[in-house]
Amino acid sequence: MMVIYEAKDYKDLSRKAANIVSAQVIMKPNCVLGLATGSSPEGMYAQLVDWYNKGDVDFSRVKSVNLDEYRGLSRENEQSYYYFMHKHLFDKVNIDANNTYLPNGLAEDPDEECRRYDALIESLNGVDLQLLGMGHNGHIGFNEPGDCFDKGTHCVDLQPSTIEANKRFFASEDDVPRQAYTMGIGTIMKAKKILVIVSGADKAEILKKALYGPITPQVPASVLQMHSDVIVIADEAALSAIK
Ligand code: F6R
Repeated sequence: MMVIYEAKDYKDLSRKAANIVSAQVIMKPNCVLGLATGSSPEGMYAQLVDWYNKGDVDFSRVKSVNLDEYRGLSRENEQSYYYFMHKHLFDKVNIDANNTYLPNGLAEDPDEECRRYDALIESLNGVDLQLLGMGHNGHIGFNEPGDCFDKGTHCVDLQPSTIEANKRFFASEDDVPRQAYTMGIGTIMKAKKILVIVSGADKAEILKKALYGPITPQVPASVLQMHSDVIVIADEAALSAIK
């Protein structure tokens, strides 16, 4: 089942998303959260940090696995997703850093790193709540449009449109890594619950395709129509093509 919540704006969306994450943590204090980076969840993380500071949410027993990481970036690199997660959440709440996991961007053998990551997720008994943003081409994680849905964690070549979209964070386009590790569509779909957050008019067309278009690997997010428990939170601008 898919439930769609309309948020007024980004702030409202962030608050609604944070409510769902904190409800999950309250229901199951030792839950496994699947986390995402990017602009979409930044406000949600800030809201969670706020509530943590007020004593309203406790991350001490939470475990987390991130969706993706650039290949070739070290943890210290400010553009790495490791760095992003520490900056926006892990260093600001009482989650045990030893219980937070991301693919290792500097792993020598990419195949082995993918197998390690899948085995790790399995050893945690899977993800309770997976958070997702959505790319302009419908990607989730770094599962780019293609001919088939990828199952497990894999190393992908980023598409020109994704490099273009992400270059805003780097000194120049040449600095954007060309590859990334990402959970596969299979990994994502195994999560017990999925929370998708989508903001802005520039995502309106792809959100419509993902939610109401045909299920196709050309629009990776369309696969979410087949999941049994999905919550989509989108702001008015992102929902503008649907009404
Ligand atoms: C990030 C991720 C990506 C982003 C997507 C949207 O971990 O997996 O799929 O969710 O590229 O990015 P933003 O939120 O920056 O528009």
